[in-house]
Amino acid sequence: MRVHVADHPLITHKLTVLRDETTPSPVFRALAEELVTLLAYEATRNVRVDNVTVRTPVADAAGLAISKPRPLVVPILRAGLGMLEGMVKLVPTAEVGFLGMVRNEETLQPTTYAERLPDDLSNRQCFVLDPMLATGGSLLAAINYLFDRGAVDVTAICLIGAPEGLAAIEKATEGREVTIVLGALDEKLNEVGYIVPGLGDAGDRLYGTVG
Ligand code: PRP
Ligand code: URA
Repeated sequence: MRVHVADHPLITHKLTVLRDETTPSPVFRALAEELVTLLAYEATRNVRVDNVTVRTPVADAAGLAISKPRPLVVPILRAGLGMLEGMVKLVPTAEVGFLGMVRNEETLQPTTYAERLPDDLSNRQCFVLDPMLATGGSLLAAINYLFDRGAVDVTAICLIGAPEGLAAIEKATEGREVTIVLGALDEKLNEVGYIVPGLGDAGDRLYGTVG
């Protein structure tokens, strides 16, 4: 597994405002979108491309075009939805699939309540979006869905991760082509499975409490 933790003052600045408990939802949503665009730059470093030639007004120019099948972007609902626009801004030709998951806040186990993905992901590069990688249960379930359908490699973009979740994913995906790109790697999980210092409940901060 390849792990990349962002090391850029602009990213840390935006994350600092995101973490602040006084930051209101509209600002939180705008920042989450901006952060994904910045992290997607690194996450797409190995996106598959073909050599192409275009004709400029002056001469032929060698360039690159994103290969087919097109990359698949998969936000994990609900909170991952807040990252979708920022990702497709950078890769507008990507296709989008959806996974709806919710973590039971007592057992910390995720359940899947919605799934809209192509049946066949053979030869597909997939990009999963979820702001929080806590125990890693939700992200691992998403990664397994994609590999079970034939994906060749999966890159996850998360705004904040916990060391416990990273270790769990590394262990469970040994031998697979998995990359995790994080805005920050925090200290730990607390006794109720929240990332410390983290930013609280990402879904609630984006969209409010659903009860
Ligand atoms: C949050 C977050 C991740 C998950 C992380 O979602 O967006 O999906 O928890 O926790 P884990 O790594 O321990 O699985 P949540 O279940 O709160 O649902 P929501 O996005 O609808 O708020
Ligand atoms: N889900 C969140 O939204 N935040 C955490 O800190 C952990 C899981």
